[in-house]
Amino acid sequence: MSSRSQVSALSFFVAESFSSGLFSISFSLVSVGVIVTFYCFNLVGAGATSIVMKCLVTLLLTSSCIASSSAPDSPNKAAAAPRTLKYLLEPPVYAEVVAPRGENVTLPCILRANPSQYTVKWTKMEVEKVGPENIIIISNGRACKRYGHLGPRASLRKAHVLDASLQLSRLELEDGGRYRCQLIHDLHDESVFISLRIEGVVFPYQSKNGRYRFTYTEAKQACEEQDGRLASQEQLYRAWTEGLDWCNAGWLWDGTVQYPIIVPRPACGLETFSGLRSYGSKDKEHHFDAFCFTSQTSGSVFFLSGSFSFQQAENACRHQGAQLALVGQLYAAWRFRKYDRCDGGWLKDGSVRFPINNPRRRCGGLPAAGVRSLGFPDKAAHLYGAYCYNS
Ligand SMILES: *[C@@H]1O[C@H](CO)[C@@H](O)[C@H](O)[C@H]1NC(C)=O
Repeated sequence: MSSRSQVSALSFFVAESFSSGLFSISFSLVSVGVIVTFYCFNLVGAGATSIVMKCLVTLLLTSSCIASSSAPDSPNKAAAAPRTLKYLLEPPVYAEVVAPRGENVTLPCILRANPSQYTVKWTKMEVEKVGPENIIIISNGRACKRYGHLGPRASLRKAHVLDASLQLSRLELEDGGRYRCQLIHDLHDESVFISLRIEGVVFPYQSKNGRYRFTYTEAKQACEEQDGRLASQEQLYRAWTEGLDWCNAGWLWDGTVQYPIIVPRPACGLETFSGLRSYGSKDKEHHFDAFCFTSQTSGSVFFLSGSFSFQQAENACRHQGAQLALVGQLYAAWRFRKYDRCDGGWLKDGSVRFPINNPRRRCGGLPAAGVRSLGFPDKAAHLYGAYCYNS
């Protein structure tokens, strides 16, 4: 069905950190979100858009001297005010570490003093999981033990005697989240928290049977089948700041149903504000679209020209030792490799799409970058090329 979705782009300065190669660092409270230019447009069909401009943000590093002046340890004073930590560096070296799927990262945790005997425990804070903690690794300074599904990819960096930083290798989509480095010594028990953000792209996904056909479970599965994962609210919010404007509500990982609006318009509800619009947590048997999140892939996407039916396109890719690309793989190529191709091609789910990074009139006439969709045409139509994925 033809989607009445619209995509707009917003270019702006993100108070977003400075980046150095594989990961960027950001101190989350530095906010300099100044909208510099603003332009928007509509497009019929599917597609997501993003124009991100990064700007250097002058980081005002809260000097740790301020925090560590004199206040005596008082465990009851607790959470709100920054506590004085005796053994761990606070604020941590980075509050947030960012990297795409497949990369290795280090989550920093540095000791300020080296107690004679101590235990360092790294935990992933999972909101949806209550009960047993998600322990990753426990070390007593000499030996360490690894636990859970992250354990096999985890190690301690130990660059020097005060280093308790956690290394995670071959990042996966679900590794994003909050991590705790906890130091236990005698009666002391202190923690610092570091966020890991997987760098990626959010894409709306609709069933081939039309709008609003997925239960929560089906939406989750649909994303996985397209090399993605249901997006978190934070990921959708970030996509909105990067220009995603989408008029169909979709499931998120947390079981809520939301949609991002940049330009309020009657077709997208009566509210007049821009932002994420939420229906809240819905009955998981109700039907909506999906917002999927994906990230960099290890393989690559390439195009085969031709006038193929779906079956012929599948065969053509196989001939090249590849297979038809998944929607998530095409979005990843569009975002991470700036893939730009003005030809509609079959994808494995039976949809026809094409990735545009340099908008030009002859390629659909739309001024925004994005992955365009021609929907799910008749599979016998001999009209399109093929997007193949080679792992
Ligand atoms: C990541 O770490 C693994 C081992 O832990 C290593 O084999 C691999 O080469 C590393 N990858 C990168 C990109 O550094």
